[in-house]
Amino acid sequence: MSNVFAAVLAGGMGTRMGNPDKPKQFWDLAGKPVIVHTVEKFCLVSDFAKVIVPVPETWVNQTRDVMARYLPAFTGKIDVIAGGEDRNGSIMNAIAHIEQLGALDDDTLIVTHDAVRPFVSYRIIKENIEAARSTGACDTVIPATDTIVHSVDGQVIASIPPRAEHYQGQTPQSFNALMLRELFEALPEGERAVLTDACGICVKAGRPVALVTGDVANMKLTYTADMRIARAMMEDGEADA
Ligand code: CTP
Repeated sequence: MSNVFAAVLAGGMGTRMGNPDKPKQFWDLAGKPVIVHTVEKFCLVSDFAKVIVPVPETWVNQTRDVMARYLPAFTGKIDVIAGGEDRNGSIMNAIAHIEQLGALDDDTLIVTHDAVRPFVSYRIIKENIEAARSTGACDTVIPATDTIVHSVDGQVIASIPPRAEHYQGQTPQSFNALMLRELFEALPEGERAVLTDACGICVKAGRPVALVTGDVANMKLTYTADMRIARAMMEDGEADA
């Protein structure tokens, strides 16, 4: 078994999208659920031993059915598991799953990606694998387009940092799996709640995190307006990126 794993994170409830009956990763996008588009992208990359999909516990059985229906060619490659209480918890559950498979060793890599970013490209995924292999951790980013304004109190500007030095974080974020787990477990309880970004855990520990160039099209579906943009992008052929 290869020691490179994908974790397509789908354990959230999508509260900002409304409709709590059905988290946004299960909404329809051009004829199939968002999560199917995203998982399929990873299934098509032969480097991965497994594509692990953490979902809310109550959605595990339905998600297995969805995968069997839309991606029957990959049933042996996709492992749907219960997600965690927060995003990092879902990543830790994925790493525990790799351990249960007997595949967690010093070189194991995990490429973590938001299920609600269905426009991720093959190039971005491949560059994540390479960067995680050489540096131990990487983040996918695009240059900041708007000026970043820093305010401590939300009332007045504290500073305006140079835009050329600032980026917007996307996913995938990829790691040496054992390193990430060790750093996460070493965090005091209070810091775990604050350090919601997995790359932030590495930065805090002084580990290098390489940058992979993302894409404006690799957007995250957060609000209902994003769904409208995604549907228009699908009609435009972005799905084939
Ligand atoms: N996620 C996860 N496990 C959690 C929480 C979030 O795997 N316990 C995943 C989401 O399913 C999503 C990704 O992390 O694919 C990015 O998170 P976000 O967009 O914030 O998703 P939600 O938490 O679902 O959204 P909201 O904050 O609006 O509820």
